Order: sequence, then C-alpha cells, then structure tokens
Amino acid sequence: MAPKENSIPTGIVTLWGLLVLQLLALQLTSASVALPGCPQRCGGVEIPYPFGIGRACSMEGFTLNCTFSNSNHKPFLSNIEFLNISLSSGLARIAGHVSSQCYNATNGNVTYKDWQMKLRGSPYRFSSTLNKFTTIGCMTMAFLRVSEMANSSANSTANSYLSGCVSMCSSREDLSNGSCTGIGCCQTAIPKGMVYYRVRFAENFNSSTTYNFSQCGYAALVEEGTFNFSTSYITTSELYGTRLPLVVDWAVRNKNCSEARQNMTSYACKSEHSTCVGSANGPGYLCNCSEGYQGNPYLPHGCQDIDECASKDVPPCSESEVCYNTQGSYRCLCPNGTHGEHYNGTCYQSYQSYQSQKLPLAVKLVTVF
Ligand SMILES: *[C@@H]1O[C@H](CO)[C@@H](O)[C@H](O)[C@H]1NC(C)=O
Ligand SMILES: *[C@@H]1O[C@H](CO)[C@@H](O)[C@H](O)[C@H]1NC(C)=O
Ligand SMILES: *[C@@H]1O[C@H](CO)[C@@H](O)[C@H](O)[C@H]1NC(C)=O
Ligand SMILES: *[C@@H]1O[C@H](CO)[C@@H](O)[C@H](O)[C@H]1NC(C)=O
Ligand SMILES: *[C@@H]1O[C@H](CO)[C@@H](O)[C@H](O)[C@H]1NC(C)=O
Ligand SMILES: *[C@@H]1O[C@H](CO)[C@@H](O)[C@H](O)[C@H]1NC(C)=O
Ligand SMILES: *[C@@H]1O[C@H](CO)[C@@H](O)[C@H](O)[C@H]1NC(C)=O
Ligand SMILES: *[C@@H]1O[C@H](CO)[C@@H](O)[C@H](O)[C@H]1NC(C)=O
Ligand SMILES: *[C@@H]1O[C@H](CO)[C@@H](O)[C@H](O)[C@H]1NC(C)=O
Ligand SMILES: *[C@@H]1O[C@H](CO)[C@@H](O)[C@H](O)[C@H]1NC(C)=O
Ligand SMILES: *[C@@H]1O[C@H](CO)[C@@H](O)[C@H](O)[C@H]1NC(C)=O
Ligand SMILES: *[C@@H]1O[C@H](CO)[C@@H](O)[C@H](O)[C@H]1NC(C)=O
Repeated sequence: MAPKENSIPTGIVTLWGLLVLQLLALQLTSASVALPGCPQRCGGVEIPYPFGIGRACSMEGFTLNCTFSNSNHKPFLSNIEFLNISLSSGLARIAGHVSSQCYNATNGNVTYKDWQMKLRGSPYRFSSTLNKFTTIGCMTMAFLRVSEMANSSANSTANSYLSGCVSMCSSREDLSNGSCTGIGCCQTAIPKGMVYYRVRFAENFNSSTTYNFSQCGYAALVEEGTFNFSTSYITTSELYGTRLPLVVDWAVRNKNCSEARQNMTSYACKSEHSTCVGSANGPGYLCNCSEGYQGNPYLPHGCQDIDECASKDVPPCSESEVCYNTQGSYRCLCPNGTHGEHYNGTCYQSYQSYQSQKLPLAVKLVTVF
C-alpha cells in the first residue's frame, strides 16, 4: 500500500490555513502507529501496523477484529483475544484457555474441559522462552500434546511431542502463594516452533481424594512472567472457565531477510531508517528501527529521529557542554568561548575569551584611577 502524502496547500495563507498547517505539523510529529485512516487502538490495546483492524488496515495474517464484548472493545483473531502487541520484540500477548478436570462428589463423575489451540498457517508461534506448560491441582497430571512442525496435521503422531506435569498436595496447609513450587502447581518448558497444542488429563489422577479442599485440577500454557500461583486457585473455583496470558512470537513468515529484500514491493521494512532481523522462532523476519530512531519500521517514514538531547532521565552530554541533536545521533559541544576535552566532558574557558572578559574589568579599573 502506497503512503498518502500530506500535500501542503499553497496560495493565500489565511488564519484558518495557518491553523491547519499547525495541526498537520502536530500530526506529523506525534507518530502514527497504524496506516493512514486506520484505527490506532481497539479498546485499551494499541494496534500497530502490520497488525490492523480489518484487511485494508493490516498485512496478510495480521488482521484482527475489534469486537465489543463485556462492555469493552477488544481485538480478536477469530476467538483469540489479543491483550498486547509489541513491535520491537515481535511478541503478542493473547488470552489462553484454561483446561479443567473437576470431580463431582455427588455422583462421582469427573468432567473435563480439554482445550486445544491451532496457530497453523498463521504468522504466530507459541513462545518457548516465555511460556510454561502449567498444571494446578492437588492430584493432577496433564499432558501437553504438541505438533512441532507448522505443516504437520493435528492427528498425525509422527511429528507430535508429549510433555507432562504432575502437581500434588495433601492439604490446604501445604500451599503457599507466589511462584510455582511443585506443591499444588507444576511448570515445564515447551519446545520451539510450536503451532498447535492440546491438553489431556490423566484419568487416574483426579480430585476424588482431595475434593474436601480441592475439587478441580487445571492445565494451561501460560506466560511464566505474569503467572502467580494463588492458593485460592486450589480452594475456590475462580480459575474455572477463565483465561490466562500466553505469549506468541510473530514474524513476517516464509522469507528470510536477504530473500525478502529482493522484492521491495513486498518487503515489510518500509521505513527508510529500518533494519531487518531474522526471526528467532520459525522462518521469517522482523523489522526494527535503526539505531537513533524510534517508531514503526513497517510504515513509510515510520522510524523517526530520537531527540537524545531532550532525554530527561539520561542527559547525553555533561553539564558544561551543549547538546545538538542530529539525524540518528547527537553531538556534545562546548559552548562558544570555551574549548573542551570531549572525552572528559569538561569544557575550559578559551584563553581569548578569558582575555575579552578580563578586558572590561581592566578598563574599568583604569577609569576609576
Ligand atoms: C502492553 O505492554 C506494555 C509493556 O509491557 C505496557 O506498557 C502496556 O501497558 C501494555 N498494554 C496493555 C493493554 O496491557
Ligand atoms: C472477523 O469477524 C468476521 C465476522 O464475524 C469473521 O468472518 C472473520 O473471520 C473475523 N476475522 C478475524 C481476523 O477474526
Ligand atoms: C454434581 O452432580 C449432581 C448430580 O448429577 C448435579 O446435580 C450437580 O449439578 C453436579 N455438580 C456440579 C458442580 O456439576
Ligand atoms: C454422571 O453420573 C450419573 C450417575 O450418577 C450418570 O448417570 C451420568 O451418565 C454421568 N454423567 C457423565 C457425563 O458421565
Ligand atoms: C513438513 O516440512 C518439513 C520441512 O519443514 C518437510 O521435511 C516435511 O516433508 C513436511 N511434511 C509435510 C507433510 O508436508
Ligand atoms: C485425521 O483424522 C481424521 C478423522 O479421525 C481423518 O479423516 C484424517 O484422515 C486424519 N488425518 C491424517 C493426516 O491422518
Ligand atoms: C493467597 O492469596 C489469596 C488471594 O490473594 C488469599 O485469599 C489467600 O488467603 C492467600 N493464601 C495464603 C496461604 O496466604
Ligand atoms: C479417579 O481416580 C481414581 C484413582 O485415584 C480412579 O480409581 C477413578 O476411576 C477415577 N475416576 C474417574 C471418574 O476417572
Ligand atoms: C471430607 O470431609 C468429611 C467431613 O469433614 C470427612 O468425613 C471425609 O472423610 C473427608 N473426605 C476426604 C476424602 O478427606
Ligand atoms: C513482488 O511482490 C509483489 C507484491 O507481493 C508481487 O505482486 C510481485 O509479483 C513480486 N515481484 C516479484 C518479482 O516477485
Ligand atoms: C556559537 O557561535 C556561532 C556563530 O556565532 C553560533 O552559530 C552558535 O549558535 C553559537 N553556539 C552557542 C552554543 O552559543
Ligand atoms: C576530567 O575532568 C575532571 C574535572 O571534571 C578533572 O579533575 C580531570 O583531571 C579530568 N581528566 C582528564 C584526563 O583530563
């Protein structure tokens, strides 16, 4: 899609015209994350291009719907809710289902909710570095069935991988809040490149012996960093039917950087100040802004110069120097009338300037006498 150029109107500049020009300037400086005319957010979630609401606003595979649910607009890919999208790290946080196995003491039945999730044929892969397969319960054993290859089918066992986790505890008193220690909660790593997973519970592990304080066991693929074990997950039904954050890696798939650069029409890194980075999970690439620039590398003119001199937390120059912003970088110079040792960040008064400052004093002294 070609970028829309903002044409500056020529002719009589009226007051209104000036106002419009000022507004244009404001728009140009506050960088847009989406294509022109496309929504930048859906509810509380920023939607940066290549993601977009609707086909016209997104790159293929990154189309989301902005759906009104539970009194809020939320971005969805079919039935998967997107919680957060990061351009620089090529990650998205989604809401993952929690599978459950509950014992009914009245009739002795065990009811299962086994979820599966398919990302096959999409730009997404389950992040193997940020997620853990997690089971919660006092007599719970669950398996994670994974098809590693993006092209393998769900029921072919040839490319599948099985991992499992067992969580046990004998009483409420065994449990403590916080990290997943193995008591009432178990976590295990998943392989790289995952595009499909399915949860299965082991039938001989169920809550029939623990139902007095724990009726259900749970299993889910969850983001390790945001997951916090709570004893109430065991003792109440608060986890039942809920969703927990899960991280997916995304990339512009099927071409590496050098292949992608051969066709500038389809090459996704549109900004002139952008670089291509190979995907770390699966084939494909990501775009980053070049050093000294920030913004959206997937949009023409998306990467804009960082004004290092305006940085409040880390002033790039020493107190005695003057900071000059340049395209992609900055310079620290000594103020006029001084000279400096740049590497030391110290500016010394030049001899000449010292003299010219002294002179009026001398003249004054002369006139007094
Ligand atoms: C997304 O993540 C960033 C950084 O972690 C955070 O600042 C932002 O508030 C998050 N947005 C949402 C909608 O969670
Ligand atoms: C968006 O919603 C429409 C209608 O419900 C559906 O046909 C389409 O597949 C959805 N697209 C995405 C990306 O979820
Ligand atoms: C347990 O089973 C009884 C009898 O079949 C049923 O009435 C009750 O709703 C069930 N409880 C739950 C939590 O499903
Ligand atoms: C649950 O148990 C009852 C007997 O108490 C039985 O009739 C019913 O078929 C069971 N339901 C399931 C889903 O197994
Ligand atoms: C799946 O892809 C691998 C290489 O990525 C290939 O070796 C294999 O033959 C493919 N399988 C099918 C069923 O296409
Ligand atoms: C998967 O299972 C379905 C039905 O169980 C069967 O029709 C299909 O051929 C299977 N696919 C493969 C690739 O084995
Ligand atoms: C753990 O946290 C939950 C909710 O925050 C609380 O209800 C529970 O009492 C806590 N458990 C312990 C052992 O502190
Ligand atoms: C629950 O587990 C016990 C073994 O701990 C087993 O004997 C029983 O059949 C299981 N119940 C169901 C409904 O699978
Ligand atoms: C559950 O509690 C009741 C009464 O408190 C007790 O009689 C029963 O033995 C307990 N069951 C288990 C499996 O601990
Ligand atoms: C380059 O990409 C565009 C858009 O995907 C496509 O229409 C065109 O055929 C490609 N050109 C070549 C030489 O592959
Ligand atoms: C130093 O002098 C030059 C030329 O007079 C001027 O352009 C520049 O802005 C001055 N720099 C400072 C820091 O005053
Ligand atoms: C660097 O500057 C400090 C004063 O800020 C001075 O004491 C020191 O000698 C200088 N070092 C060099 C190598 O010039």
